[in-house]
Amino acid sequence: MPDRPDDRRPRVAVTRPELPGPGMARLAAEADLRVWPERRPPTAPELAELVADADGLLCQTGDRIDAALLGGAPRLRVLSNAGVGYDNLDRAALARRGIPAGNTPGVLTETTADLTWALILAAARRIVEADRLVRSGGWVRSDFDLLLGQDVWGATLGVVGYGAIGRAVARRGLGFGMRILYTSRHPAADAGAATRVPLPELMRTADVVSIHTPMTLETRGLIGAAEIALMKPTAILVNTSRGAVVDQVALAAALAEGRLFAAGLDVTAIEPTPPGDPILGLPNCVVLPHIGSASFATRSRMVATAVDNVLAGLRGERLPHCVNPEVYDA
Ligand code: DGY
Repeated sequence: MPDRPDDRRPRVAVTRPELPGPGMARLAAEADLRVWPERRPPTAPELAELVADADGLLCQTGDRIDAALLGGAPRLRVLSNAGVGYDNLDRAALARRGIPAGNTPGVLTETTADLTWALILAAARRIVEADRLVRSGGWVRSDFDLLLGQDVWGATLGVVGYGAIGRAVARRGLGFGMRILYTSRHPAADAGAATRVPLPELMRTADVVSIHTPMTLETRGLIGAAEIALMKPTAILVNTSRGAVVDQVALAAALAEGRLFAAGLDVTAIEPTPPGDPILGLPNCVVLPHIGSASFATRSRMVATAVDNVLAGLRGERLPHCVNPEVYDA
């Protein structure tokens, strides 16, 4: 007998085939899944086809969800992003349709903070350059000035955006004996020894600047040429939030001209970073493929949380993690 969709069961479109952990089995027990079969993400027309008759959508932060897509998905009643960021969603279009959207906060905080620290240390101590030197056979003498870097211990850490991930990065900084500065719209209740300062002061003073803002209209280009010009030539810039928060052209120029010691980027202006991007030619820039939350356990927890959101939406319940709760007031 050919497989026929059961009309009593909701249909859920899923934009990736490789989601880890037991979460997907829970979803499959309650819904018919339309899983995008390829490892490359669907294009906009392919995504439109995938969601055309779906009641729910489980997507990634790289999938653009806009009014055109929603217009072609008349049955859609819940959307769940497997990620904490939701700058890929057109919230106004979701509100017009009254579709609640979920994300996966909390479960990835510590893992992303760990990765941020991997970048801080790699950039400050030139770890990637050093590894390349050894592998290429270039380590022929142990010169006393071989690959000198910057000390992290006892330095000043500037955290731009003091949400959960920014605070987790700051906590780790205390273990390195660092002074902590931060920017945020409001003073943090639990800031402890951390000091809130205006952004220009943070950029001028910090030895390590780490970006943890969400991507919004206000934060696009927040770290531009003027902000980068304030930084010490010995300083390090790390970004694990969204590429567009930093002016990457200005950053590449500062790194190339020695106005900034090094950078560590888990996110770039265009992802995947195109070959030939100037940032890739700079030995003092470590570039990662957006893997902040990519541990086995955390990615499984993200899928589980995303599935909790979809299931709640399909049952007509409030999503446990809803990014547009205003839809419930309408
Ligand atoms: C997130 O969760 O927002 C990460 O950046 C993965 O996209």
